[in-house]
Amino acid sequence: MEILHVSAECYPVAKVGGLGDVVGALPKYQQKLGHIAKVVLPMYRTKFLFENQFDVVHKGAFSMDGHWLNYTIIKEKTNKLGFDLYLVDIMGILDRERVYGYDDDTYRFIAFQRAVVDWVGKWQHRPDIIHAHDHHCGLIPFMMQYSYEYNYLSGIKTIFTIHNGQYQGWMGWDQARWFPAFDAYKWGMLDWNNMINPLAAGVKCAYKVNTVSSGYLEELRHSSKGLEHLFEYERGKCFGILNGIDTEVWNPETDSYLQHHYSYLTADEGKRANKKALCDEFGLDINKPLFIFIGRMVEEKAADLLPQAISDSIYYMNGRMNFLVLGSGSSMVEQQLESMRGHFFGYYNSQIGYNEALSHKMYAGADFLLMPSRVEPCGLNQMYALRYGTVPIVRRTGGLNDTVVDYGDEGGFGVCFREATVGEITHSVYRALQLYEDKERMGKTVEKIMQIDHSWERSAQIYINLYNS
Ligand code: ADP
Ligand code: GLC
Repeated sequence: MEILHVSAECYPVAKVGGLGDVVGALPKYQQKLGHIAKVVLPMYRTKFLFENQFDVVHKGAFSMDGHWLNYTIIKEKTNKLGFDLYLVDIMGILDRERVYGYDDDTYRFIAFQRAVVDWVGKWQHRPDIIHAHDHHCGLIPFMMQYSYEYNYLSGIKTIFTIHNGQYQGWMGWDQARWFPAFDAYKWGMLDWNNMINPLAAGVKCAYKVNTVSSGYLEELRHSSKGLEHLFEYERGKCFGILNGIDTEVWNPETDSYLQHHYSYLTADEGKRANKKALCDEFGLDINKPLFIFIGRMVEEKAADLLPQAISDSIYYMNGRMNFLVLGSGSSMVEQQLESMRGHFFGYYNSQIGYNEALSHKMYAGADFLLMPSRVEPCGLNQMYALRYGTVPIVRRTGGLNDTVVDYGDEGGFGVCFREATVGEITHSVYRALQLYEDKERMGKTVEKIMQIDHSWERSAQIYINLYNS
């Protein structure tokens, strides 16, 4: 079977969050299962582009709101990622350093999707499946079914994966002028509440839809920023498939970002050596349990609760622990977290920004990972933490609820709580301290979590079954 993944992110080419990790790994594992998986994404001006070699494979053009846009498709030469990687260039539109965050993002991603569909139409052969990820690619199934220019592609089956239903790509109807001309009777396939909603359009028009955990699919029926009825109505074609992790990239025995490698058999010394390097770098005390947070500082991650939860924990528990935070996002949260550094010197430190290398060192050197997310469709951090022997502290939501069992429950190994409040986070830190202080139990927990299998093999096959259906 031949699958073309269309996405805004793909690690290591361009990554903002977990979407990049998933699209960098799933195709590789589909290849291993004997299928042909390809990925296409915009040609951002990231490091990967300049460090690798490409061939031009196609040049084309389409008219968008009266302007001709020329596009070029290039293909990475050496199969470096384990699958064919294609990048779409449209000068002046996709040639940016960052993935998102520009005023013309809506225009950029419509242009990207149009270029992809145009290119697929001109290919000598057809992929069996087009797999579109998140709202940036949610219009592709619509374009392939209902636009006059491309509806000859309607026989190709489309899958739409929702990694995050919080972002839906809403736009006004005036922006329909950027679409390829389409059957006006089908406007309802794009519409939700008098807006064009690419996420809703993806759900309506794709042959099959999935979310990245079963728990999250269930949640979307009750809370999805206005799309609750849609998820209820379309439940017959919606599935939950839990993400995996790329165990070749995320492996404490071989991780090139780590100075000290370890397995579950050597976790005690291995983690301690990594913790020492981390504590030395950030002025923390290796003899105290180290709690970390890594992530986008946005409302869904409940990053706004961290400053208060961290200071309450340090005060109420007499500084019996250390915290280290890595992330970027809301400038208010960033400022609060930065200003706390002086106040809690020796107990707390932070690095604002994106740092792939440091994230690996933190998963390896920490004792506990905090994930108080208000919304978490799957969450990869907790799975990386497990693999690196770091105990996750999570709110019971979405994929976190599907992957972490509280240590107080039968067979449990993590710390779980219900509400995203400062009080519950602080109480969970207290419960984690109790676990940490029971050395024997903590050691067994680390050994156990490192052996939990969240590799992609299983989920990659479930996607194939979905395509086959
Ligand atoms: P989301 O995709 O919602 O951000 P996930 O848990 O699925 O959440 O994935 C987050 C990914 O991004 C993980 O690989 C995590 O390590 C990484 N990440 C997030 N913020 C940073 C950062 N500031 N520096 C390095 N890696 C980060
Ligand atoms: C989204 C979600 C996250 C998920 C990731 C990969 O960014 O917020 O929970 O793990 O996509 O599917």
